[in-house]
Amino acid sequence: MQTVQTINELKHIIGVNKEKTIGFIPTMGYLHEGHQALLNKAREENDFIVASVFVNPAQFGPNEDLDRYPRNIEHDTKLATEAGVDVLFVPTPEEMYPFESGITIQVGELSTKLCGESRPGHFDGVLKVITKLFHLVQPTKAYFGQKDAQQLAIIETFVNAYNFPVQIVRVPTVRETDGLAKSSRNVFLSEQERAQAVHLFKALQLATETWKKSKNVDEAIAKGKAHIVENTSGKIDYFAVLTYPTLQPVSEQADQLLFATAVFFEKARLIDNILVETKEV
Ligand code: PAJ
Repeated sequence: MQTVQTINELKHIIGVNKEKTIGFIPTMGYLHEGHQALLNKAREENDFIVASVFVNPAQFGPNEDLDRYPRNIEHDTKLATEAGVDVLFVPTPEEMYPFESGITIQVGELSTKLCGESRPGHFDGVLKVITKLFHLVQPTKAYFGQKDAQQLAIIETFVNAYNFPVQIVRVPTVRETDGLAKSSRNVFLSEQERAQAVHLFKALQLATETWKKSKNVDEAIAKGKAHIVENTSGKIDYFAVLTYPTLQPVSEQADQLLFATAVFFEKARLIDNILVETKEV
């Protein structure tokens, strides 16, 4: 595996390999088995694999955890090598954003819900980096986790609306054995919070089961919220049910429903979700 830090080196390598199918996995590093699932799927489906590790300042708000976001490039290099990545792109913020163009990408309505409500500008920052990375890597397919369901919905919609020549591949959420969704931010949980954190997933399961029986969204949300309140010390940011990937109220006819929650713990805000196929219910 080659590790490259500059755009020029990356462009050169992409040029040499342009006849191959390129699978791309953008990440912020501190890689775990969730990221590994994306790398493995990409390895199965493409000739050449590019992954990036970049803690993107543009997607962090002023009071968020940019400075203390966990980093371990030695571990990431090892994991990416073992997963069969060909090129690991690890740019600095100066390399990615050498000048301020004053031109921004604004997500609009899809960013007014769920995580977008408490993280203004976050998804604009995600699309800023993704646009640059897609132009540089020119991937045939790019891999994203359902763990970040709103991010995935926004990227799918963006690529579709603006004709980016890339296929977006959805990868299911990888969980710890007790059900907690794997996340780089789980390291911020105290021992007690780690034990409680599994109740995000349990609450989502309870809500989906409730909805399957009664088709009553309000009842499902109330049960899910109550479960989190009773079983954790966390503060609920949201617990919502929306159509997917359109993120509209459930009254609309939809093939998929997103049951999603975000909970603030002392040093980490955790998110999780379950996608339900309405036709199978
Ligand atoms: P990061 O949080 O590092 O996640 C990188 C990719 O891994 C995302 O597509 C995310 O959904 C996926 N992922 C994380 N945990 C997962 C899990 N438990 N199961 C399955 N997939 C999982 O998301 C970002 O970085 C950034 O916003 C990025 C897209 C790289 C733009 O900066």
